[in-house]
Amino acid sequence: MKALLERLSGALHLTLAVACLWLLASSPWLRMVRHLPASPGFVNLAHVVLGVTVAVLLPVYLAHCSLGERRQLCFPWLTGHMGAVKRDLAGLARGRLPAAEGGGLLAMLEGLLLLALLATALTGAGWLLVQGSQAALTWYELHVTCARVFGGLLLLHVLGVSLHLLDFVRN
Ligand code: HEM
Ligand code: HEM
Repeated sequence: MKALLERLSGALHLTLAVACLWLLASSPWLRMVRHLPASPGFVNLAHVVLGVTVAVLLPVYLAHCSLGERRQLCFPWLTGHMGAVKRDLAGLARGRLPAAEGGGLLAMLEGLLLLALLATALTGAGWLLVQGSQAALTWYELHVTCARVFGGLLLLHVLGVSLHLLDFVRN
């Protein structure tokens, strides 16, 4: 099981990254606050189809990131391994960039990114189940908040990964 998840993880990460970039970049053109319009149009329909795809694939990727030693890298606050994160935060306060290897702040950020995406996908699914009713507005508001938090964390993730690549090129 673990070996299969390991093999799938690259393809899953790439699929989720491309899907999320589309979902974020196309969001200004969405028009479906209370319900899916009778003729939804490409952007609305693509959002729902890709959003549901993300909701189905994400638990598999989440399982990959929660097994073995990855659990303490991505979720150190769950396993009580906050030492490297604290070192990174102390370094950051002195102007030192966090280490890209061996867990710490950047890996914890990846765990938080996964949870924010899970919340975004679940609130999107919640909206889909009740769309057309009064409750749809509450799910819409929750979904927009989760999507914005996710967008912010994704920006930090991409910045963190770029620092890693810069480090790699410099060495
Ligand atoms: C613009 C889109 C993205 C880019 C360019 C990107 C890039 C990367 C790269 C290069 C790594 C490897 C970092 C390393 O080994 O140090 C990585 C790891 C990771 N990314 Fe992304 N990513 C993106 C989107 C996402 C999204 C949407 C998620 C959430 C599902 C995500 C979750 C993760 C996680 C959990 C890891 C750690 C994987 C592991 O330890 O096996 N990334 N990302
Ligand atoms: C279960 C699947 C999903 C459904 C049914 C869904 C549905 C919706 C709906 C109804 C809106 C409001 C549209 C409007 O303003 O007219 C919305 C907005 C949005 N959704 Fe989703 N969504 C889903 C999954 C996702 C996922 C996985 C992401 C992850 C990136 C995402 C990102 C966004 C963003 C960025 C917005 C715009 C937020 C803003 O206005 O700032 N959605 N979605």
